[in-house]
Amino acid sequence: MIKLAFEMRLKDKIAIITGAAAGIGEASSRLFAAEGATVVALDLDSAGLDRLVGEIRDQGFACHGLCVDVTSSIRCREAVEWTARELGRIDILFNNAGVVHQGTLLEASEEDWDQALDINVKSMFRTCRHALPVMLRQGSGNIINTASVAGFSGVVKRGVYSTSKAAVVGLTKSLAIDYIGNGIRANCICPATVDTPSLQSRINTAADPEQARRDFIARQPMGRLCQAEEIAALALYLASDESVYMTGQAVVIDGAMTL
Ligand SMILES: NC(=O)c1ccc[n+]([C@@H]2O[C@H](COP(=O)([O-])OP(=O)(O)OC[C@H]3O[C@@H](n4cnc5c(N)ncnc54)[C@H](O)[C@@H]3O)[C@@H](O)[C@H]2O)c1
Repeated sequence: MIKLAFEMRLKDKIAIITGAAAGIGEASSRLFAAEGATVVALDLDSAGLDRLVGEIRDQGFACHGLCVDVTSSIRCREAVEWTARELGRIDILFNNAGVVHQGTLLEASEEDWDQALDINVKSMFRTCRHALPVMLRQGSGNIINTASVAGFSGVVKRGVYSTSKAAVVGLTKSLAIDYIGNGIRANCICPATVDTPSLQSRINTAADPEQARRDFIARQPMGRLCQAEEIAALALYLASDESVYMTGQAVVIDGAMTL
């Protein structure tokens, strides 16, 4: 029988989160730790990781930081193996690290294409290929991937990015169906416009940053941007046993942008 009220929704879970030092990954790391998980925070920003880990620990919660570039197969393998060896298991793998390439396909170089697919998609293969054997041995596991509404709806000037995020949806469904008999779930989150450092840096590149921010807000029917904590709340639901009957889903959280 599933409980309807949950306290410490990730109590005793071990959770790896990539892209953890800022934005959605940071908010999720804080929330997962506060809900009882031991968080293994992966990012290439070592100063950001140190700050995050220190703040989470100061609150009495459990967090480890590993400086990992998710484009490195070796570093991804080492991080996953460290987690399994030192913490004993891997319950949740939240593949969140990603970058936005702005522009149409004609405005993208081969390097842009390779970088977007490498960071946004292939990185998930790198972590999953080492976490899955651990989850298979456990007979349980939960994979959450960050996709985007750009992966299935037309978003202007996101040619390469949209392609990469559509691949994340496909990867998620493939994981879900292949491992459904092994107690392993996989879902992905499809946000619209979230007010994170990555969005702010895109805004800062505009000729008129204030107008650029207004333009991002204008495409959101709710009249405001999403907050990283609102995505973290969905990630928490997917990571917890409350969503135990859900797998293979691309969950849209977009303030009605694609309605
Ligand atoms: N912000 C949005 O509007 C939005 C909308 C839809 C989807 N997303 C997706 O959400 C995810 C997180 O985005 P965000 O807005 O929170 O970004 P962010 O830039 O605010 O944070 C991303 C974090 O990932 C880290 N990172 C980047 N490349 C890395 C790499 N190669 N290896 C390890 N870490 C790396 C960065 O250092 C940073 O700490 C991404 O996958 C993004 O595509 C964001």
